[in-house]
Amino acid sequence: MAAVSPRPWISTGKRQNGFIILALSAGAADTNSTGIAGLAVQLFSADLKRRCNKSCLRMYFHVSQLECELSRTNCLSGLPVRDGFESYGGDAYFNEAWRPVMIVDQGLQEDSKVVVRPGDDDWERCKFRFRSSLFSLVTLVDHLYFLHLQLANFFVTSVREQMSESHPIRRFLTPFTYQTISINDNAAHNLVAPRSMGPRCFAMTDQGFNLAFAAAPHLQVWGYEVPAEDGGPLLNLRSYFAYKKRQGVDTEYFRQASELYEIYHRFLSSYVECYYPTKEALVKDEELLAMAEHFFIDSEAAAAGSMGRRHPWVKIIDADAPVEEAYEFYLDWLASLMWMVTAGHEQMGAVEVYAQDVSWTSFKWLKGATCGTKQTATAQALLMSFTSTPMPKLIGDGDDWSHLFPKASVLAGRTPELCYKKFHEDLKAMSLRCEQYNAEAHTRPFPECFPMYTNNPGVLECSISV
Ligand SMILES: [Fe+2]
Repeated sequence: MAAVSPRPWISTGKRQNGFIILALSAGAADTNSTGIAGLAVQLFSADLKRRCNKSCLRMYFHVSQLECELSRTNCLSGLPVRDGFESYGGDAYFNEAWRPVMIVDQGLQEDSKVVVRPGDDDWERCKFRFRSSLFSLVTLVDHLYFLHLQLANFFVTSVREQMSESHPIRRFLTPFTYQTISINDNAAHNLVAPRSMGPRCFAMTDQGFNLAFAAAPHLQVWGYEVPAEDGGPLLNLRSYFAYKKRQGVDTEYFRQASELYEIYHRFLSSYVECYYPTKEALVKDEELLAMAEHFFIDSEAAAAGSMGRRHPWVKIIDADAPVEEAYEFYLDWLASLMWMVTAGHEQMGAVEVYAQDVSWTSFKWLKGATCGTKQTATAQALLMSFTSTPMPKLIGDGDDWSHLFPKASVLAGRTPELCYKKFHEDLKAMSLRCEQYNAEAHTRPFPECFPMYTNNPGVLECSISV
């Protein structure tokens, strides 16, 4: 075993032919800052690039200016697994050329860390373990727990339970919560319930599966990992994207994410002006306030750790906040939810290409193996088939939901239908820019030479699928 050094590798974004480095959302810093670094980094070989279709790239952050080249999955190493299967684990380190240079694996030996480097006997094995652990971590924490069971669940239940059916904001949000109750009902019964499809795919025991969900609130990112001294947790994506930029993560992924967020925000802002004569009228809308209170109370109470808090971790804006501040709070929050259930879900949930080959990533594997079993291959293929229910496209034929908008009551100089038309024009224009960016990918130097799909409105759906 070798000593573990701190992370001395700083990304400079140098070209490295034959390899693609991308990152996906996985893990987070926990409250004592000894947890995960926030972004996970993964490496593709040229061989994998040939085998994968372009959708495999859609889920990844572009990490051209990532400051930290460290990706951790050792947080899973303590989860008890069923007989015959290996524990998860592996923190991967990358050099300035984005090649993996070391994996510190806590899941191979009890109470100790194994350090492997290129050329070591277990190098290929630990790379497989790391990739598979990362795949499992993102699926369980980011996708299933955070996005489905928390955010989308609280989103749709707060809208449905606190707003009347003719409320203009409820009507506005309908496409973004389309089928979400059914989808999450499916997820609860088939992906979470004991002995259902989800637990059968993973190596954990029932206790291990429950422990994974218990730990999930401390592993989620997307603003939750931002420390209090930096204003965290940041549930407003505009602030979160700005925070990432301040941290040195100024990538095409986040640039496109910000562009899409701003389109949502403009659409929402122009729409509500058709119904609320003043900003004060919106921030005093009792149904909107009830919806927000419902969402934030559920979000705060979801984690067991909330019982020990003197003050809420995430909370609605203070009732005595200035009108302008409160108005922006509600618009930012709702626009963030819209982004999360569209582009966010594409980012965290579109993992099907990884599931198609258990020699690349497997939800579980036998001790010593560098490939999942046939049973696991079948199980995760079934899981992906089950979880690929298409939702309506954000833009495309038959996507006009403006008939849902109530008759506008305010003379705002526009109609909700015109707002919707402008929204669609903005989405289509952004989609063209995304396609242009991808078409010119090969002309740009590394690491800007890869296409980007996860924020392209042309491929996004309007609500979460399983
Ligand atoms: Fe999903």
